[in-house]
Amino acid sequence: MKTGIDKISFAIPARYFDLSALAAQRGIDPAKFSRGIGQDRFAMPEHDEDIVTLGAEAALPLLDASTKNQIDTLLFATESGLDQSKAAGIHVHHLLGLPARCRVVEMKQACYSATAALQLACAHVARRPERKVLVIAADVARYDLDGPAEATQGCGGVAMVVGADPAILALDPFSGCHTEDIYDFWRPPYRETPLVDGKFSALKYLQTLAHAWEAYQADGGRPHESFARICYHLPFSRMGEKAHRHLAGLAGVSAEAERLDPGLTYARDVGNCYSASLYLSLISTLDNSEEDLGGKAIGLFSYGSGAVGEMLSGEVQPGYRTHLLTERHRTMLAERKALSHSAYLDLWHGPRGAQGGEIILPQAARGTFRLARIHDHKREYTSRTPA
Ligand code: HMG
Repeated sequence: MKTGIDKISFAIPARYFDLSALAAQRGIDPAKFSRGIGQDRFAMPEHDEDIVTLGAEAALPLLDASTKNQIDTLLFATESGLDQSKAAGIHVHHLLGLPARCRVVEMKQACYSATAALQLACAHVARRPERKVLVIAADVARYDLDGPAEATQGCGGVAMVVGADPAILALDPFSGCHTEDIYDFWRPPYRETPLVDGKFSALKYLQTLAHAWEAYQADGGRPHESFARICYHLPFSRMGEKAHRHLAGLAGVSAEAERLDPGLTYARDVGNCYSASLYLSLISTLDNSEEDLGGKAIGLFSYGSGAVGEMLSGEVQPGYRTHLLTERHRTMLAERKALSHSAYLDLWHGPRGAQGGEIILPQAARGTFRLARIHDHKREYTSRTPA
């Protein structure tokens, strides 16, 4: 039986910071970011947006009454956790009006966790084909100001409904993983921003890709030439270009740009959204490939610092285009507004208020869901139209 992605969508905030403005602020050549890093803009959340609102917003257009009724599991992948105990997905479960009998859990392994969630979801629906799993990946990538990683910030949420006989992508049962105990990027609980060994992380990303590819081949994986497109975890789009060249070299083939480029389009304007990045690249590939990919294979490389990598693949389903939300995605990107440098800094520092005191957040989010208030250490979300 085929299992995989039946529906998929993303959500991003309404405002972004332009990297040419960051270059001007720092007095450096804007090509350092546009070519050297391969990024044009990064998405910034409003004070009343976070992983819950972005995740719920991404899932909202996927859920009609019958789908909601079939969902028995919500897996929320993130490394921007809001609570050490309570899963962010429980707020999403409430905002979306999912059945009380649906289990909810939060999953973490840096940017990799959404792939683990997707694989577990496929295993679950193979056992219960009448059920569906809602997989959400949402993150806010915030690095220290004025450091080398500042240009690689971003945020966003991706939601996928996973089921049997999926309409969009049937995942292959084989895949290749590689795990290694390293510190290339990490965030101890007492820190707001991660610690990162940037050059080492890029090196480990490529080494993990090589190991995962080897494991994928050993597991009976498809040959490189059979992939119509390959999607990568994209901390910044240039990393995807390097990975694409590296993988082609390992497979002894040439790195054709058309197999990569449609997957970079959205990332250049959104930035890193950690656990959601690979799946944003998948949506970008499906939305922006001129050729009909129905019946063709897609390769995916997932990387999460620390580190776990996985090479997986799947077959795009005939007729998939009628199930995409391409216009919605393009409009969401096109209708955004640029932030001034001072407005960006204000958002970067987050809402002000004493820990444990009350913070009331003015309406700024453009979507249906927003964080309205934090009081008694509790977060209170509201929706414009009750679910
Ligand atoms: P940097 O200081 O900007 O590095 O940091 P750089 O000075 O080497 O410049 C980058 C590139 O720009 C170089 O090209 C320069 O030559 C080029 P390369 O050597 O790479 O080919 N350049 C220019 N190009 C055109 N015109 C110019 C110009 N000037 C310079 N005028 C770094 C870059 C990625 C290290 C930094 O941004 C960083 O630390 N980022 C965060 C870490 C990261 O994203 N790592 C990626 C792999 S790890 C990963 O993906 C996991 C992660 O998502 C987290 C998770 O799993 O949860 C991060």
